[in-house]
Amino acid sequence: MELLRKKIVEEALREGYNLTAEAISIIESQQKPLETLRQIINYLKISRPEVIVVDSSHIMEVGLKTNEAGYIVSDIMIEKEPLEEWAPKIEVDDKFLKNYRIEGNITEFQNYFKSRYMKLKSILEKRGESFSKIIDVLKSPKGSESTLIVMLLEKIEKEQSIILQVEDDTSTVKLVAPKRDSELTRKIERLLVDQVLGVRVVKVNNVLFVRDVFMPDVPLKWRSVNENAPEVYIVLISDLHVGSRKFRRDLWENFLDWLSNTRDAEVKRIRYMIIAGDIVDGVGVFPKQDRELEYTSVTQQMEEVAKLLSEVPKEIKLIISIGNHDPVVKALPQPPLPKKYRKILEKYREYIFVGNPAVIRVEDRRILVYHGQSLDDIIQYLPNTSYSILDREIRNVLEMLIQCRHLAPIYGENTPILPTPEDLLVIEDIPDILHTGHVHVAYAGNYRDVVLVNSGTWQEQTSYQREVGLEPTVGTAVLVNLKTLSVKLKKFT
Ligand SMILES: [Fe+2]
Repeated sequence: MELLRKKIVEEALREGYNLTAEAISIIESQQKPLETLRQIINYLKISRPEVIVVDSSHIMEVGLKTNEAGYIVSDIMIEKEPLEEWAPKIEVDDKFLKNYRIEGNITEFQNYFKSRYMKLKSILEKRGESFSKIIDVLKSPKGSESTLIVMLLEKIEKEQSIILQVEDDTSTVKLVAPKRDSELTRKIERLLVDQVLGVRVVKVNNVLFVRDVFMPDVPLKWRSVNENAPEVYIVLISDLHVGSRKFRRDLWENFLDWLSNTRDAEVKRIRYMIIAGDIVDGVGVFPKQDRELEYTSVTQQMEEVAKLLSEVPKEIKLIISIGNHDPVVKALPQPPLPKKYRKILEKYREYIFVGNPAVIRVEDRRILVYHGQSLDDIIQYLPNTSYSILDREIRNVLEMLIQCRHLAPIYGENTPILPTPEDLLVIEDIPDILHTGHVHVAYAGNYRDVVLVNSGTWQEQTSYQREVGLEPTVGTAVLVNLKTLSVKLKKFT
């Protein structure tokens, strides 16, 4: 009780309010005290902006009923505002619902890389430039300039230059990038092996020198405004890691309270929620994991998730994607959660299950959901980037995915990728929102016209994260207005 009182007082202070002793007792006696407090604060902010000390009379104004014995212990009854003429609009691209399998032969790998190259080539060709093939450039006269679309096979650092071994669908060639061009060197340092890019070259004495490099990227402005879109909100979260001793149940409960807080105009209009994977901590995901587990079977962990998610208001459509800790094959693209576990979750409410990655259209907005396994590789290879400064660098890391137009540009590092006939990790259609997780560091912002989100985590710092100096953003949810695409990062404490 003492702890609850402290929480109430602190929460009020954070919002700039002092509570009288009587006000504290009333709030404390409610079924959902913190939710009640937030409703009171929201009311005061809008209707009584002059109030800074909250007493019982203010609480009565909000609508808590009294009887002779005092205040009735009940939730504040507030009518939910129905959204006029609104019906959920949600569509999942079924390519991201399948369970892909491979034989493991060389042709599958060749076809996978061919698909990657061809898809990204067609994105680059839309820029309207004219591109040449390596085979023709090799035969071209000295001094001629041309532009190639290539996959980067290798970068070799020399004293005076960086050598790029590249390939297209006709041949392979070595390109020389002189280091004296510092702007070019800076761009080349950011290039990742296996990515597809454009290269401007000039032929001097049978050597192809790099003049410039450019990524597929997205245009500065590409989105048209849809004035008729309804003003509804989506909440993006990820990385609950239920089953871990480090799961922050208390913060999760505060999040649930907030979701039920119908005084907040934005919360009232939340109709969708996406979880971008790692709903459970899993079992045997890393060595000696059992020491860090509260529940040591995946079934127990799922049963716990089922209870935790059952309290998400029923009018919110809940979409669940997959992460590397979830009980699904690890290689991308990952299929949706297996039936056995879906059944456990569906005991209490409905869900929409999708794979990882997944393209979902919600209210005509294209949302690309991707857990983010490859972010580890990008952090490792991108210059001046590490886990210990990820809070500052996460933006650059996420931008890299959009610039490369690929969710896992580097092949064969820490991100297992299934060589499917079609490379589903190419970002073919530009998303309105890219929703990622995995690295447990929250971010919400824009790159050009794309909303970039990493939705943080609900798990305290793990021992591995402590070793690499990663400070997770614990207890975060990102709220996006689907009409305006404005974003807010909410931190629950
Ligand atoms: Fe995670």
